[in-house]
Amino acid sequence: KSIAIFSSGSGSNAENLITYFRKTQCANVSVVLSNNQEAFVLNRAKRLEVPSTTFSRNDFYHSEAILDVLEKYEVDFIVLAGFLWLIPSYLISAFPNRIVNIHPALLPKYGGKGMFGENVHKAVVESGDKESGITIHYVNEHYDTGSTIFQARCLVMPGDTPESLAAKVHELEYKHFPRVVEDIICKL
Ligand code: GRF
Repeated sequence: KSIAIFSSGSGSNAENLITYFRKTQCANVSVVLSNNQEAFVLNRAKRLEVPSTTFSRNDFYHSEAILDVLEKYEVDFIVLAGFLWLIPSYLISAFPNRIVNIHPALLPKYGGKGMFGENVHKAVVESGDKESGITIHYVNEHYDTGSTIFQARCLVMPGDTPESLAAKVHELEYKHFPRVVEDIICKL
């Protein structure tokens, strides 16, 4: 199976997925796509010798050019890993139940537009919640509301900052995301 990863920023999850799937039989990351030409994920892809491509807002929302890229790499499954744009309906229709996202909190709390990266961890710390975690879910036309596949939890301790919480959440992401994606893909 062929996986495409969409990422807008650093891409540490993308790197973790790429290296994980190199060691598995049933799937491989064949392309990385980004909406951001400056994204560090593009450096990672280059170093790992995975093809990458970028697209503009116009390409994404007012053309279906992305479908040609996905076809070129014979993509079966899309993983969003720190990708910040809403997925347009033509892409959801082309990949029904074949797009998953990771969110760095326990949805349905702390989801929605603008809730990404540090914003999420800041909101959690300021709320006084005693726990946070990760949610891996299917993607629909709205932010962070597709059905949940998997959650894992961590404690928020007194004295935790958005940065220290982010580090704990990232650990959960690195540990669980590849395995959960593998479970889905290998059953397709
Ligand atoms: C992750 O915490 C992911 O859950 C979130 O954005 C972060 C991306 O980090 N939506 P990276 O780009 O994988 O390093």
